[in-house]
Amino acid sequence: MPKVSFTYEIPEIAEKKLKDAGFDVWVNREERTLTHEEIINLAKESDALITLLSDNINKEVLEAGKGKLKVVSNYAVGYNNIDVESAKEFSIYVTNTPGVLSDATADLAWALLFAVARKIVESDKFVREGKFIGWRPQLFLGYDIKGKTLGIIGMGRIGKEMAKRALGFDMKVLYYKRNRLSEAEEKELNVEYAPLEELIKKSDYISLHTPLTPETHHLLDEKEFSMMKPNVIIINTARGPVINEKVLIKYLKEGKIAGAGLDVYEEEPKIPEELLKLDNVVLTPHTGSATFETRDKMAEMVADNVIAALKGEVPPNNVY
Ligand code: DGY
Repeated sequence: MPKVSFTYEIPEIAEKKLKDAGFDVWVNREERTLTHEEIINLAKESDALITLLSDNINKEVLEAGKGKLKVVSNYAVGYNNIDVESAKEFSIYVTNTPGVLSDATADLAWALLFAVARKIVESDKFVREGKFIGWRPQLFLGYDIKGKTLGIIGMGRIGKEMAKRALGFDMKVLYYKRNRLSEAEEKELNVEYAPLEELIKKSDYISLHTPLTPETHHLLDEKEFSMMKPNVIIINTARGPVINEKVLIKYLKEGKIAGAGLDVYEEEPKIPEELLKLDNVVLTPHTGSATFETRDKMAEMVADNVIAALKGEVPPNNVY
């Protein structure tokens, strides 16, 4: 019986589907990430691996699976944790969960945008600490959203959902993407293409929605930060290393930008002490896709991808 191994527990629906399909299912039920050694051993003995974005599926793991392992089914849309080139070399499919988490992730990006712009977290703390002693003209002044310019970097599925939600706020939406959208799509979404530099210079809010690739690593670095408006708010629900975190912290500390809403970090789960001390940031623990409905849909998808691969078919969400 082919063996399917989960490096971590995910919604039960995946396990059920795989058991119903007749596979021998093993799940890491401990609340800890498996060590690299353990993942290597799992790769040796499994026909399919279900992995998290925090598992480092490098060449060593894939080589260990050579000959037996047919698919690595990542429980995420991003797959920068997997060495796709090596997977290809060893004929192992790599699959992800595109589409089903676009709404939830765009919602979280907006939640962060609101939270930073209107100082929601700081205000909440202030009220709980009993400091609210009356209405004050200057208390927690934030920034308008309506009519402002939103710059979306990366206009894939999630970026588009981000743009759709801006329609209700009469925002001017600029976007940057390697391949420009069609005119019809730009019109439908009410977005305007801008080269990266122009978008950075003109935006009041910048939201990142690119995958992490060698090209997008530190896409926002010193040069880009130096061109931003002083009132800009940066939102990152994509991948931490797309921003040079040290530079971001410097600009936040010096008040050269207004704030940031971050769901992802350069060296997750490590978060720099300095970032934790700043008032002008709102931080969430990589929960872009964390809704009950979305996580169930993702679980179904990872199972479907495994089932297809173990039937000898190209799985529906193979990334290469
Ligand atoms: C993903 O699936 O890649 C997201 O980062 C999850 O929030």
